[in-house]
Amino acid sequence: MTQDLRTLESELARLKAENAELRQQLMQAQKLSSVGALASSITHEFNNILMTVINYAKMGIRHKDEATREKAFDKILTAGQRAAKITTSMLSYARAKGDRREPASLSQLVQDVLVLVEKDLQKHRIHCQTQFSGEPWSAVNGCQVQQVLLNLIINARQAMDAGGVLSITVQANPEEGFSEVTVRDTGVGIPADKLPQIFAPFFTTKEVDDQGQGGTGLGLALCKDVIEAHQGRIRVESVVGKGTAFILRFPLVPAPRIASSSKVKTAC
Ligand SMILES: Nc1ncnc2c1ncn2[C@@H]1O[C@H](COP(=O)(O)OP(=O)(O)OP(=O)(O)O)[C@@H](O)[C@H]1O
Ligand SMILES: [Mg+2]
Repeated sequence: MTQDLRTLESELARLKAENAELRQQLMQAQKLSSVGALASSITHEFNNILMTVINYAKMGIRHKDEATREKAFDKILTAGQRAAKITTSMLSYARAKGDRREPASLSQLVQDVLVLVEKDLQKHRIHCQTQFSGEPWSAVNGCQVQQVLLNLIINARQAMDAGGVLSITVQANPEEGFSEVTVRDTGVGIPADKLPQIFAPFFTTKEVDDQGQGGTGLGLALCKDVIEAHQGRIRVESVVGKGTAFILRFPLVPAPRIASSSKVKTAC
């Protein structure tokens, strides 16, 4: 009997470890699929950057005067730095990282994700507004939280077929000890009878697109998993025809440096 119990316990432990490993793999696969959704916009952006570099290099070769050459070098440098910023963000996002959590500025995480989606939003005629108040810090796995943000932003973009406004706000609530990130869109909204299902794995109302992207129904299930593993909360508010807001809450931790009390930006 005790032997049977021990065998069962070790089998349970093995299954738990296998389950954790499969979850990690699923998370990584979902992450790469969200990168896939941005691939075409990022490729276009790179092409634009290369055209800038090539044209200003030609201008520098043609014009020998110092002022023109200086301007050309300046433009080439700025374009190169932008390309480097995009590749760095992309590589750090796509790299598989463990479960480690450390204090991170949520405003900074939002800004890093916006580097990746900026062109994609422009291409879909979506104006992006951000508002950062109080610069809250939370103990998070930055990569996983970026994955959550990216999923919410891609969902928002897909809900605004004819363009619209994406607003992202980050604020601190020190009295209650949490930080809050809201991702709001002016898209189609979610009917009340669908709301209870949207976080269920494989629930989707989308068709796979031309590039074979999307429609797995795993995006929000993953968001919920990640947020709950951070002892946080995710909730949704939606009005059909007006838009949807996803609100994330994380436990607040002290900022490791003096943060500015309020910083407001209105465009990405
Ligand atoms: N911002 C939003 N506006 C309107 N509907 C939304 C929004 N976000 C999610 N939904 C609804 O919730 C469903 C589930 O979203 P989820 O991100 O889990 O999967 P998906 O987007 O359909 O597929 P995938 O994420 O794999 O591309 C969507 O199919 C859509 O019906
Ligand atoms: Mg999705």
